Amino acid sequence: MPGETELFEVARGAMERAYAPYSRFRVGCALEAESGVVFAGCNVENASYPVTVCAERVAIGAAVAAGERRFTRLVLVSDAAEPISPCGMCRQALAEFTPELEIVTRGTAGGEKRLVLADLLPERFTLRTNEKA
Ligand code: THU
Repeated sequence: MPGETELFEVARGAMERAYAPYSRFRVGCALEAESGVVFAGCNVENASYPVTVCAERVAIGAAVAAGERRFTRLVLVSDAAEPISPCGMCRQALAEFTPELEIVTRGTAGGEKRLVLADLLPERFTLRTNEKA
């Protein structure tokens, strides 16, 4: 299992590669799978603004494509001075796989927040479990 410092390095590296020419707001994350493998994500914007994908959903896509569906930690960084929280759409996307996911988020000013996904998305929508899908 990688240490938290390593996860922040992965998240910052991804943030450096963010494609954010419209908002100029870069986000990077490191999503740790139960296997210990870490998946990086950055936001990928588009001239058609709603086509933009957040860093968290980029990491989920990479992880699921690699065969991972259970996650242990999400480390999140951005250009903002204060730690950011995942947006609502990403909360729902993350909760599909790990409702109790631990999130550690840091801003550029040095502050840190430790969050649990279930607290950010109470009474989430579910249709059926994804176990057999
Ligand atoms: N963004 C993320 O990547 N993750 C979040 O949780 C919040 C927002 C991105 C989307 C967009 O490219 C930029 O930040 C400004 O909203």
